[in-house]
This record gives sequence, C-alpha cells and structure tokens, in this order.
Amino acid sequence: MELQASLNGAPRDERARAYLAVRSATEALAAPLSAEDCTVQSMPDASPVKWHLAHTTWFFETFVLEPHPPGYRPFDPAFRVLFNSYYNAVGPKHPRPERGMLTRPGLERVLEYRAYVDEHVLNLLETSSTAGLQILELGLHHEQQHQELVLTDVKHLLSRNPEKPAYHPQWPLTEIQARKPRWIGFPAGIVEIGEEGTGFAFDNERPRHKAWLDAFEIASHPATHGDFIAFIEDGGYRRPELWLSAGWDAVCASGWQAPEYWQERDGRWFTFTLHGEAPVDPNTPICHVSFYEADAFARWKGARLPTEAEWETAVGGLAIEGNFMESGALHPLALREAPPEGALAQAFGDVWEWTRSDYAPYPGYAPAAGAVGEYNGKFMSGQYVLRGGSCATPQSHIRATYRNFFPPAARWQFSGVRLARNA
Ligand SMILES: [Fe+2]
Repeated sequence: MELQASLNGAPRDERARAYLAVRSATEALAAPLSAEDCTVQSMPDASPVKWHLAHTTWFFETFVLEPHPPGYRPFDPAFRVLFNSYYNAVGPKHPRPERGMLTRPGLERVLEYRAYVDEHVLNLLETSSTAGLQILELGLHHEQQHQELVLTDVKHLLSRNPEKPAYHPQWPLTEIQARKPRWIGFPAGIVEIGEEGTGFAFDNERPRHKAWLDAFEIASHPATHGDFIAFIEDGGYRRPELWLSAGWDAVCASGWQAPEYWQERDGRWFTFTLHGEAPVDPNTPICHVSFYEADAFARWKGARLPTEAEWETAVGGLAIEGNFMESGALHPLALREAPPEGALAQAFGDVWEWTRSDYAPYPGYAPAAGAVGEYNGKFMSGQYVLRGGSCATPQSHIRATYRNFFPPAARWQFSGVRLARNA
C-alpha cells in the first residue's frame, strides 16, 4: 500500500503491510553497518543509527501504544527519556549532543525493542479500534524522515574516517553529458499553494491558501557540480559582496572553501559519497551546500533562489518521479534526457532545493493537538524551506506540497540549488 493513501479506512492487512514495509526498510538501511558504526555520533546535528532505530520505535510506543491499548507495559521505562528527541510534553530527554555516549542499550537490545513494539502495534491493528490510526500513520511518515537521516548521518560519520569507507561499495553512476538549463517563465498572478486533500500531509503543509506571485523564471533543472566549480574558481568563497552578512560570517568562522565533503588534490576535486570517495562529476546536481552557499552562488549567477510558492507553482502537477532512496544510487545523478520544452526536470529526488522562503506558518496554520503538536510548529523560526526530496528520501514520503526545513548553515543533507530570477 502506498503511504500517500490514508491508513484510515484501509483493510487491516493493508495497514499491517504498510507498517511492516516501513519498519523493515529502516532495518535494511542499518543492515550493512556494524554495532560500532551504529553507536558513534559524529556531530551534534547527526544521531547514531542505533538512536534512530530506537527513537522511531519510541514514537510508536509513546504516541500509539501507551495511550491506546489498556494495560500496555513499556519495554523499558528508561527508554522514555533516552529516546525522546524534543517532546517537552512527554517529559525529560537525554541531551542531543550526547546520543553517541549511549553504549548501552546495545544494538541487539534496541532491535529487541523494535520487535516488541512491532508485535504490540500489529496486535493493535488486529482490534477493531481505529483510535490512534492517524497517529500511527504520522509515525510511519516520521520513520521515513529518519530513514533519510540514517543515510545522511552515516555518510557524515564515515566521512570522518581517513580510510573513507563505503556504506555501499557498488558505484552506480555513469558519466553523462552536460545539459544547459533553460529558463521557464511563469506569469504574474494569484496562485494557491499548500495541501488541501484528505490524504496524509504534515500539519505544516496546510492550509491551502492564496499567494501573489510576480512574473518569474525558474531553471529547468538544478545547478550542477560543474557550475559550482566555476563559482569556486571565480573566487566565490573569497568575495564578501556575494554573501549575506550571516553567510560571510559562516564562511570566515568555519573556513568553508568548497561544499561539505569536498577535497582538492592536484587540481582535481573529490567528494565523499556513500560509495566511498569519488571524483566530483561536473554534470550531477550540486549537493551538500548550505542555504548561505546556495544564495551566494545564485547571486554570482545573476539570479536568486526561488520562493517556495514559486517552486510549488512551477512544479504544478508533475508526477512524483525521480532518483529517490529506492534507486540505490544514494547520490544525485546527471540528467539523462532533456526535459520537454517548458517542463521542470529533477524536481523530485536527487537534491533538496533550498528556497528563499523562511520556514513560517501558512496563514491559518494550526498545530496538531497534544504532544505531537510539537512535531513541526515549534521549529518555525530561523530556518529555511527546502523542496522536492533527495536521493536519500523514500519515494512514497514526498509530495509537491512537502516542506522540509533546516538552519541556513546546515550542509550534511543532500541540499542543492535550482536558480530563479525575476522575469
Ligand atoms: Fe523524530
């Protein structure tokens, strides 16, 4: 069953299949890793895989099992604190930067925790009660978000090893010729953005509402690594006039000279991938750039980042197709075929596209009731919206209205750039 459809109203067997498909996909992502790989935390923003495995389970235990079947006994009461991410209404939490200190419980115990909670969730589906089905569905979409984080966090972890170990040794990429982006124009007018259907969507995608757009143009596909090399060679990281003030501060403080994971040797750029180190392919979409780098690059190009209303309007009714987690590439791929005239290519998958829109509530936004109201709404300050999903996003997780968000200096996600400009 597609997760895009609602679990509510689906037959019990289909609900169970959808649940088990998502749960087993997470475990499949962890399968190539050792217990040591799963334990270490490489930076405060990234979490150990073991923590992701436990926290996604904690979500079902805390929000589905504890409120719903009478007499549910938690697997281990200590886990309520250890694997609480940020839900203040649930109670105290283990500090985020210290998730990598948790050598206990071990990986095996966390996998037992998963099996215990799975058994109880499946039993809950057995009963006729539909209470909690909506939150169960939220739990599945939550787990898919963590599947992407497993990949980005493991990539960051392995990149810190001087041996540059591969998560997956097979290199799936083939060289493909460069394609020049075309500008696609859209007229001024009132548009509607946001989710209005009855299917699953996060609260931050609603309500659907009107927005005014001036005439604009947007690139037919994302900017490439080759474009970004030209920016670097033109002194992009040494020219404060190209940068937002906070972006220039970030360049100076962190010494950025290239995107995350890049290294120059003998005049050639290499990058770290989930398949180990590889030469930078100039024809693949640029990724692992912060909002600040995306913005400076766009300014250097005489363009700008699109707003999220422009992005959603330009994408229109395009099918959700592209290079997602399931392709196994785990890296953005070059465009194989030129898109039809006037159509966007690579809108979904490959790289999350930074927008110029700060992550704010839509007009009329209301967070969900209860503790899960903390899921999205409380993060609506100081972050920017990214659209379209990446090569690490599960395909059934994404929608045209989907709003991802990260702080402007974040670089460890598969984040890239699609240029826009005023018409
Ligand atoms: Fe979470």
